[in-house]
Order: sequence, then C-alpha cells, then structure tokens
Amino acid sequence: RKPITINTLQSLYRKNEPITMITAHDFPSAHVADHAGMDMILVGDSLAMVALGMEDTSEVLLEEMLLHCRSVARAKTAAFTVGDLPMGSYEIAPEQALESAIRVVKEGRVKAVKLEGGKEMAPTIAKITSAGIPVVGHIGLTPQRQNALGGFRVQGKNTASALELLEDAFAVQEAGAFAIVVEAVPAEIATMVTKKLSVPTIGIGAGNGTSGQVLVQVDMSGNFPPGRFLPKFVKKYGDVWSESLRAITEYKTEVKSRVYPTPEHTYPMSMTKEEFADF
Ligand code: KIV
Ligand code: NA
Repeated sequence: RKPITINTLQSLYRKNEPITMITAHDFPSAHVADHAGMDMILVGDSLAMVALGMEDTSEVLLEEMLLHCRSVARAKTAAFTVGDLPMGSYEIAPEQALESAIRVVKEGRVKAVKLEGGKEMAPTIAKITSAGIPVVGHIGLTPQRQNALGGFRVQGKNTASALELLEDAFAVQEAGAFAIVVEAVPAEIATMVTKKLSVPTIGIGAGNGTSGQVLVQVDMSGNFPPGRFLPKFVKKYGDVWSESLRAITEYKTEVKSRVYPTPEHTYPMSMTKEEFADF
C-alpha cells in the first residue's frame, strides 16, 4: 500500500470519499489497523483509559504519549499517523505547544499532532503549523475538559452552542488545521459545520454527514472486559475480548491436563537413545 500523505487525505476529501481513522496505541494495534486499510491512525490520549488503566485522559503524560507514539510508528504504517497532545503539554503558550508538538513528531515519530479546543487555541494551532507540523483540531466534546463541560456531554445541541461550535470550527480551520475531529455533536449540526468548512471533519458521535469517522479501536473491536460503559456512538464490530478469553482459558485447561505441549510443539534431541541412557 502506498503511504497516505496529507495530499491523499485532501484528495479523498475533494472526492467526497469518507476518511477512515482509528486509534492505535502500540505496535500490534497499529499493524492490524494498517492491514485493514485505515487512512489514518490516531495515537489518542484515550490510551490513558483503554491501555494504561487511568481514570481519564488528563492523567497521561507527554513522555508516556511519546512511548506509545514510537511503538505505533515502528509499525511503519501506510496510514497517516497522528499523535494527541496530552493535557498540560500545550495550553500554557503557543511556544509550549510547539515544543511538545516537535517532541511528538521527532521522538514519537508520528506525522501530525492533534489538540483539543476551539477559537482560544487558534494562535497555538497557527504556531505549530508555521513550523511545518500538520495539526488536527478537535472540537465539540473535548474529553480533556470534561470537568469544565460537566462530564461527557453532547455539544452544539442548542442555537448558542451550535453557533459557538461553528465559530470554533472556522477559527481552527483559519489557524491552519488540515482536519478537525468533531466529537459528540448532533448529526445535523456536524453536517452543517462540515458543509461550511473547506477542510475535512472527522466525526465521532457526530452522525454520517462528516468527511470521515474515527473510533477507539478497543471499543469498536470489543477488546474490553464485560460491563464496561460504551458511549452511544460506538458500534461494536468484534469481540476480541471473548476470543482472547477463550484462547487463554483453553491454554490453561490444556496445561493443567498436560494436553499441551504435544510433540509437535517440542524440540527433538540429537542424542541417540543409547547416548541418552548413558547421559
Ligand atoms: O483520544 C482519542 O482516542 C481521541 C479520539 C476519540 C478522537 O481523541
Ligand atoms: Na484524544
């Protein structure tokens, strides 16, 4: 597969072909996403919760993101890779954000960065893009700000909030973002925003009228223990947890009963029976 570049993504957008994006947080999850033919791979800070067992995304450190970005980058995917700037690594000043963005592309080896926020982040996005680092915006529900939003709540529902979303989208676009993630917004509003923009929107819980879709891999592949809360927008396409559970349970049973390993899993020796008897 030919490497996906920013030009490929722009051409998909022009052709009105949906852009496919999924998260990955390590080497195997990047490989499988790439084999499936994803256009974009996001090393999302959602890895805090789905891979590191943290309470929320704001807990993950830049250093930790770098480690995960690097392991995704080592899969050498054709998919275009994007790394999230974690909370605390970009809000203080555009210079701080640029410094973090440089680390994410230089040490994390991904191609672009994503950061959360609307018009207030415009100078920051402009600063990062001016250094030649592509930026993906993220508006609507911004999980790093869940405490200020009063939790994981749908955004842009009423007139005032929809107008604010549109202003944010324009500001982020004008600042130079080449794509914008739009999270947890009514479909009509996300579609309207998409139509008004000239850069692609990547929706998550934003209906079918955006320029692309993104989902968290462990959510959509069902790679989590039973009872975990899933947002309304997640479609569970697989049951990776059940398959792992079945395999490990069977392994346990076969070890306990000495069914595994059989001779086919075992190395032969080169001693003869006589030599072995004398040994
Ligand atoms: O961290 C993440 O996985 C994300 C996507 C859900 C957009 O930001
Ligand atoms: Na994120």
